[in-house]
Amino acid sequence: MPSTNDLKKIWLESYKSVPATLKRIKEVKNVVAAFNTNIDAVIKIKPAKLLKLIELEDLSLEDLQDIREAKLNSGVDVVKGIFRCFSEGIAEEWLSEDVKVYDWMVENIGYDRLQIGGQGGVVSNALGVAGVGKIFAHSNSLPKLQAELFVKQKNVVSFDKKGNIMPAYQIDRETDIPLIHWIIEFDRGDKIMLEGREFVCPKSNRFIATYDPLNLNLVMDSHFVKKMASKKPDYVFLSGFHALTEDHRGADLIDEALPVIQSWCKDKTILHLEIASTQDLKVRKAILEILAPTADSLGCNERETIDALEVLGEKALAKDCEASPHSVNLFKGILKIKEKTKVPRIQLHMFGLYIVIQNKDFKVLPEANLRGMQLAATAAASKAGLGSINKKKDILWSCGKEVSDIGLKELTELATFLNCDQLAKTGIAFCKDYDIIALPTILIDKPLTLVGLGDTISSLSIVSAR
Ligand code: GLC
Repeated sequence: MPSTNDLKKIWLESYKSVPATLKRIKEVKNVVAAFNTNIDAVIKIKPAKLLKLIELEDLSLEDLQDIREAKLNSGVDVVKGIFRCFSEGIAEEWLSEDVKVYDWMVENIGYDRLQIGGQGGVVSNALGVAGVGKIFAHSNSLPKLQAELFVKQKNVVSFDKKGNIMPAYQIDRETDIPLIHWIIEFDRGDKIMLEGREFVCPKSNRFIATYDPLNLNLVMDSHFVKKMASKKPDYVFLSGFHALTEDHRGADLIDEALPVIQSWCKDKTILHLEIASTQDLKVRKAILEILAPTADSLGCNERETIDALEVLGEKALAKDCEASPHSVNLFKGILKIKEKTKVPRIQLHMFGLYIVIQNKDFKVLPEANLRGMQLAATAAASKAGLGSINKKKDILWSCGKEVSDIGLKELTELATFLNCDQLAKTGIAFCKDYDIIALPTILIDKPLTLVGLGDTISSLSIVSAR
């Protein structure tokens, strides 16, 4: 196996294909991004503010750690969720069905900025900026406040209230309600003292607090649903099921969505499903058992891999991944998910490394996949470094930076496990039953933002894989 320094040089050279890949993305004509778009109210929370919230709700350490369900019934639960994610350095999203929780957040949390959110929204902006021909963004609510968060470009379109297709940023469905999710981000190394104990945030991450009556019920825009059937999209990027619950007919809504999605997909369409962090077990099971087998491609992060294994009856493997969330275990995890769902392609985006496993006859060649993943890794690092990517040149901001040590360590461990040095050097391993593509990524030390990075990675990886 080459040394880390040699591998860094090899990968720096290999990443040089990125600007050319970005240019080619305009060959993609139509992409559908559905279902969830919303407004993200993003705030970076500092230790002093977190302490203030804990005092405001008069919570002891014991209260803070007493979490019975990952759900928001009051402001107290919001504080508990933030504290848990801050002290463990993890990402979670908790939902609320009570408008009072929303009012509490308006009053007590505030925000630094608003940006487009939801997998559908994030993906539309990312692909739009990259230069895809046209992206149809599904929005079940599109008041001005939300619409103007879409990039100010003509290639990202949606429907006005009469059913006309228009640039999404120009739409104003005045009577629609704004769907706001709070994205509460925190930085690695930040500390708070509570009852004589110190809590240090181990990894920059975020907690999402969501009140969103439309996306929680998978409400669809009827104009969009009908008109997409004649668009022959090259790709359908699907997500937004993670917020459904059994109490709100989650699994039935998934069943009902299936024919709608199938009506959009034509022969050549590649359907990518982003699993997303799904708390409700029955809904998670339905996503994996009903939707995943119809998709061409699945996307997930470390947590979502573990969660998927749990509902697929693979508790032992889930436990291994949980105990040691590294490339070898997670590789075994996504391979198992691939086998069980029979999906032709699966992509894991983990910290420092992306891994794709795909069928030998998959429509996209391994080399093209690698190029797409490199563009995605560059865009994700640029977004983390700049806070947002609003112009095409922003995507290339991190071009020329070396891949991370963490990523190379994960990659070489995987290559050693597979007994394939070639994987560490070229990122591709041709196996008997499938091909593996693994890419070490560029990591930004103090990311300005993290939300939506997974969606950006999954969508750009597959759409620019050419
Ligand atoms: C979830 C959140 C949304 C956020 C998105 C980013 O869908 O609900 O607010 O923008 O994840 O991945």
